[in-house]
Amino acid sequence: MNSIAIELRKGVHWVGVKDWGRRMFDGLIPLPHGTSYNAYLVQGEKTALVDTVNPGFEGELLAKIGAVTDPAALDYVVMNHAEPDHAGAIPIVLAASPKSRLVLTAKGADMAARYYRVPRERMQVVADGETLDLGGKTLRFVDAPFLHWPETMFTYVVEDRILFPCDFFGSHTAAGVYDDEVADLAVRAQMYFGEIMMPFRKAGERALKKLADLPIALIAPSHGPLWRHPERILDLYRKWTAGETAAKAVVAYVSMWGSTERLVRIVAETLLGEGIRVAVHDLAQADVGDLAGDLVDARALVLGAPTVLGGLHPAAFNAANLIRALKPPLKYAALLSSYGWGGGAARQASEVLGPTGIEVVGAVEIHGSPAAEAEAQAAALASILATRIRS
Ligand SMILES: Cc1cc2nc3c(=O)[nH]c(=O)nc-3n(C[C@H](O)[C@H](O)[C@H](O)COP(=O)(O)O)c2cc1C
Ligand SMILES: [Fe+2]
Ligand SMILES: [Fe+2]
Repeated sequence: MNSIAIELRKGVHWVGVKDWGRRMFDGLIPLPHGTSYNAYLVQGEKTALVDTVNPGFEGELLAKIGAVTDPAALDYVVMNHAEPDHAGAIPIVLAASPKSRLVLTAKGADMAARYYRVPRERMQVVADGETLDLGGKTLRFVDAPFLHWPETMFTYVVEDRILFPCDFFGSHTAAGVYDDEVADLAVRAQMYFGEIMMPFRKAGERALKKLADLPIALIAPSHGPLWRHPERILDLYRKWTAGETAAKAVVAYVSMWGSTERLVRIVAETLLGEGIRVAVHDLAQADVGDLAGDLVDARALVLGAPTVLGGLHPAAFNAANLIRALKPPLKYAALLSSYGWGGGAARQASEVLGPTGIEVVGAVEIHGSPAAEAEAQAAALASILATRIRS
């Protein structure tokens, strides 16, 4: 059993798990680089475990705790978040540490009862700003709802200025321990933000405001590397939660016989020629994570989709629904479509994306394959879109 604990500071250890081989999360998010479930041990005179791990790794977690101290000696288990990737091991950890109490928010208490059948008498509910004195180490709890579920909070070690924000500031990669050890970490973090945090940008902004008063030396999230250069991720999160966009378009399309695709290529390359950054995703094989990451800072969406059975091609329907749910800061959209007889893709696209408030700058909808006139229309639409993106 792997029992390597990593000392971060005196009395603070990483006792998490690296899941190098996992390839799918929540049945939705691809994990090309695996992920980690970071858990932390904080030891003063008393000992607290901050977060646990995904079900299936309980033994590894206990072995790692055991490398530092007897798991039975745990006084507290802090549940920052009730999702099973961090809380799934709670029943086994509580069973292994008979005197420990589970520290959580009031909403967390309901979830711990519902998901993990934790008896109320094992729980210690904490309020925003409350502290817990471990004797030489002080934990402070910061309410941070909807990052990523309603019950979420952050835990802060006052003496060491370490923030444990659970999902917030995370990234899905098993690589590295610290931020400077993973070359593409900003890309991983942006994908993760798009997948997990983008729908909660307002909650993220509120949390960042609260954190502004805390001196932070180390951000230790529960997925991916630890930020020993906290400003790197704080700067990115300030931009991303504020919805700052770049002169960039996401071109998401699917095409069965190439008609829609020809329009898509004209639009993409016209945009490029006008100095717009373009990220093209063929939805038949697109990686949801790549798409979500690109949506974090894109100003415009070009959706390309033929009509299938009276509506959007299912891959485009799925993507349009996902885009609506992820709430990206897109300002403008354009639609490209080909149909064979009655059409319907364009109508369904506006039904799905209408409620988002994204301004539809224009559409090119053609019957059959594009003639020269349709190609010229697509180029003209791209120029109009480029002007709007730059404005
Ligand atoms: C499985 C399938 C279902 C289709 N359903 C419709 C439809 O309900 N209404 C319509 O107008 N065209 C329909 N079409 C025709 C396509 O919309 C048309 O061939 C279009 O030009 C395809 O564009 P593409 O080359 O970008 O794939 C369907 C085509 C296929 C293959
Ligand atoms: Fe989560
Ligand atoms: Fe998580």
